[in-house]
Amino acid sequence: MSKLALLLPCLWVVACVSAEDPSPVPERNDDSTSWLQQPDEKPTQVQRLQVKFSVHTSADPDAGCYLAIGEEQHLEDCKFNVSAKSFFIIHGWTMSGMFETWLGSLVQALREREKGANVVVVDWLDFAHQLYTSAVNNTRLVGKELAKLLDWLQEKDFSLQNVHLIGYSLGAHVAGYTGNYARGTIGRITGLDPAGPMFEGADPNKRLSPDDADFVDVLHTYTREALGVSIGIQMPVGHVDVYPNGGDVQPGCTFTDVLGSLAYGKFGDVVRCEHERSVYLFVDSLVNQDKQSFAFQCTDSNRFKKGICLSCRKNRCNGIGYNAKKMRNKRNSKMYLKTRADMPFKVYHYQMKIHVFSYKNMGETEPTFSVTLHGTNSDSQPLPLEIFGQIGLNFTNTFLVYTEEDVGDVLKIKLTWEGSTQSWYSLWKELRSYWSPPENPSKELHIRRIRVKSGETQKKLTFCAEDLQMTTITPGKELWFVKCRDGWQVKNQTRQVSIVS
Ligand SMILES: *[C@@H]1O[C@H](CO)[C@@H](O)[C@H](O)[C@H]1NC(C)=O
Ligand SMILES: *[C@@H]1O[C@H](CO)[C@@H](O)[C@H](O)[C@H]1NC(C)=O
Ligand SMILES: *[C@@H]1O[C@H](CO)[C@@H](O)[C@H](O)[C@H]1NC(C)=O
Ligand SMILES: *[C@@H]1O[C@H](CO)[C@@H](O)[C@H](O)[C@H]1NC(C)=O
Repeated sequence: MSKLALLLPCLWVVACVSAEDPSPVPERNDDSTSWLQQPDEKPTQVQRLQVKFSVHTSADPDAGCYLAIGEEQHLEDCKFNVSAKSFFIIHGWTMSGMFETWLGSLVQALREREKGANVVVVDWLDFAHQLYTSAVNNTRLVGKELAKLLDWLQEKDFSLQNVHLIGYSLGAHVAGYTGNYARGTIGRITGLDPAGPMFEGADPNKRLSPDDADFVDVLHTYTREALGVSIGIQMPVGHVDVYPNGGDVQPGCTFTDVLGSLAYGKFGDVVRCEHERSVYLFVDSLVNQDKQSFAFQCTDSNRFKKGICLSCRKNRCNGIGYNAKKMRNKRNSKMYLKTRADMPFKVYHYQMKIHVFSYKNMGETEPTFSVTLHGTNSDSQPLPLEIFGQIGLNFTNTFLVYTEEDVGDVLKIKLTWEGSTQSWYSLWKELRSYWSPPENPSKELHIRRIRVKSGETQKKLTFCAEDLQMTTITPGKELWFVKCRDGWQVKNQTRQVSIVS
């Protein structure tokens, strides 16, 4: 444990220096040359450190108006409406001692979406601009301070049910402590990629947990492990825990080789991109109301990637970010979705069930399939059917595909078996199969229909081979399927048992 404590600051210095601007100069600049600088070791003058509550009443992010416990006049001066909904934004650990750019975006998005609401930034920079371990130590104190403010406000016409705490990284655990200490139950807490180091596996009262508010929803965007720790907490800590793209690799934040990127000082950018993605997903949910993303409950990320979990029955799907519906009956319910690489993040998910017949014994087969959806609005790109392990022969295989554009109602599907020379990977597979199994008869598979379920509309459709006499597919060839039925009902005599692994 003490070894971990020693390791953490070093890890965080390496990982996060460039994630936050280390320069003490007031202007923001992302100078990557200074990324290995230590945070300035300020002499800790405890009595001068304070938690500030700045109310944002106008578009001007610097128009600071501060609330203070016991100061009635400040409420009026800051135009704080005690009977309105109140958002408290809590930032995380900082290497720069300054606010990061995401904060302004979030403030603005909240003000646009909820016009009459109070938007308050909990400024604990003094306590967060420390070594990571000390900042962790300070989360309790800061949480308590915010609870004191809420308790004082409750003496007025103020209800905790109208409070929504939004905490990023370490700030999520600050929100957890506030929930512990405040008199009564806070309406909602949203954790945006809550910090992992020193919180993973911790007691529920020492981290964000479902006990901290009436509804706790969490977005996990950077849970990939390095040296045994992950920057975002991996374990579910709310009523609803959403893991976009599995919660580890976020599209648009690519990172092929950690060491390679480190050499160029880019590692910190990847960290920032993936950790902050949680904030931008939340901002997206506020501003792009016509493009709301949905997440689907699933026991784990791999089952989701196989397309097994796209159900909305019994509250198994939910909006994400601000649009997440309260679900108090669930605890630690893990939910998944795919996203685009930037705003609006929404994609359209489809489950595909394909029964693959094989009449010839071909030995091991690793077909590379893709599908193209032709819809009433547009056609999709060719979408790969990701196979985990072996494709099941004489078996119903389930796949997850998703499109960035809304193709509308799907009318036709083109299934392509990528030719064996189209990629180095398939070339390698081809070569390998020349060496190993001696008998490699002509590859052919038969597919009669494709059953499709849309995650977003929950509609089920069945697509049949365009020419029912021609259901054979071979490498480099394609088959067309046309919509033949609403729903998935199969005629009695051709009923297939579908086994979902
Ligand atoms: C304060 O908020 C309440 C509830 O949203 C609203 O009815 C009232 O008009 C607001 N007061 C002012 C002065 O804006
Ligand atoms: C955390 O705070 C406690 C007292 O509240 C103190 O004993 C401990 O040394 C602190 N740890 C760090 C790493 O600052
Ligand atoms: C699939 O079933 C057919 C007959 O229904 C059989 O001839 C064939 O060998 C089976 N293929 C495999 C891979 O089991
Ligand atoms: C299909 O099965 C149902 C009962 O499962 C039966 O009522 C119906 O008559 C059957 N239809 C045909 C065409 O066999």
